[in-house]
Amino acid sequence: MTLRVDGLTVRFGGNTAVDGATFEAPLGRVTGLIGPNGAGKTTTFNACSGLLRPSAGQIRLSGKDVTAMVPSARAQRGLGRTFQRMELFDSLTVEQNVAIGREARLARSRPLKQLWCPPAERTEVREATEEALELCEIGALRRETAGSLSTGQRRLVDLARVLAGGFTMLLLDEPSSGLDTAETKRFGEIVIRVVAERGCGVLLVEHDMALVMSVCEYLYVLDFGELIFEGTPEQVRASDVVRAAYLGSEAA
Ligand SMILES: Nc1ncnc2c1ncn2[C@@H]1O[C@H](COP(=O)(O)OP(=O)(O)OP(=O)(O)O)[C@@H](O)[C@H]1O
Ligand SMILES: [Mg+2]
Repeated sequence: MTLRVDGLTVRFGGNTAVDGATFEAPLGRVTGLIGPNGAGKTTTFNACSGLLRPSAGQIRLSGKDVTAMVPSARAQRGLGRTFQRMELFDSLTVEQNVAIGREARLARSRPLKQLWCPPAERTEVREATEEALELCEIGALRRETAGSLSTGQRRLVDLARVLAGGFTMLLLDEPSSGLDTAETKRFGEIVIRVVAERGCGVLLVEHDMALVMSVCEYLYVLDFGELIFEGTPEQVRASDVVRAAYLGSEAA
């Protein structure tokens, strides 16, 4: 399920946060969306997942125009996301937090399921939860409450929760923020494994350049809402345009 964005423009009053961005994220690879602070990355995610209606442009999933669809309809079609400001249920266990990823997807398809869950679906939730805990290597933490975890562990629970949803396209918004170097490396390995094992697609917003360069096959670079460059990690690394955008943001 390819995510294709054409001419995406999002305005907040007089401020154009995203200006005619066109890009695609296919299955089976990690695609990066990078750029300095305020470049419009999270706004792009919000438009893709349906949290805001673009001023112009189209969002397509497998060729189907979903621009006018509510977030739950896009999720039913296989689009999942995490948030820059991660929110876990601190009083619930790791296992319960991860299970919610699947339960929420099932519940959205029929609201009454929130009141009664058939045995087959309980099995589905259990299996999806197990698989996600295993993929993220956090099975040993299953009975811990989320509130007692380190930031690194919380990030993995957040990833496991979206993986339990069984989505085919994942939008991850700065998943490594707050992680140390070793945790970031491990996080990258898990993302690569998920794509290899499931064949899903990932669109990754990330500031950690070492992570971006090691997991992304292809990158799009946003600056002040405009896509200023696209290419392989090597091409991005060698680009004067990209360097200037990052240096400009540091100087500001
Ligand atoms: N709800 C909103 N209302 C008004 N302006 C907004 C809103 N959301 C974002 N913006 C503005 O849009 C621009 C892009 O913001 P966005 O959060 O998409 O950037 P970002 O690339 O995700 O940055 P960061 O790397 O810091 O997360 C910024 O100028 C921001 O102030
Ligand atoms: Mg952001």
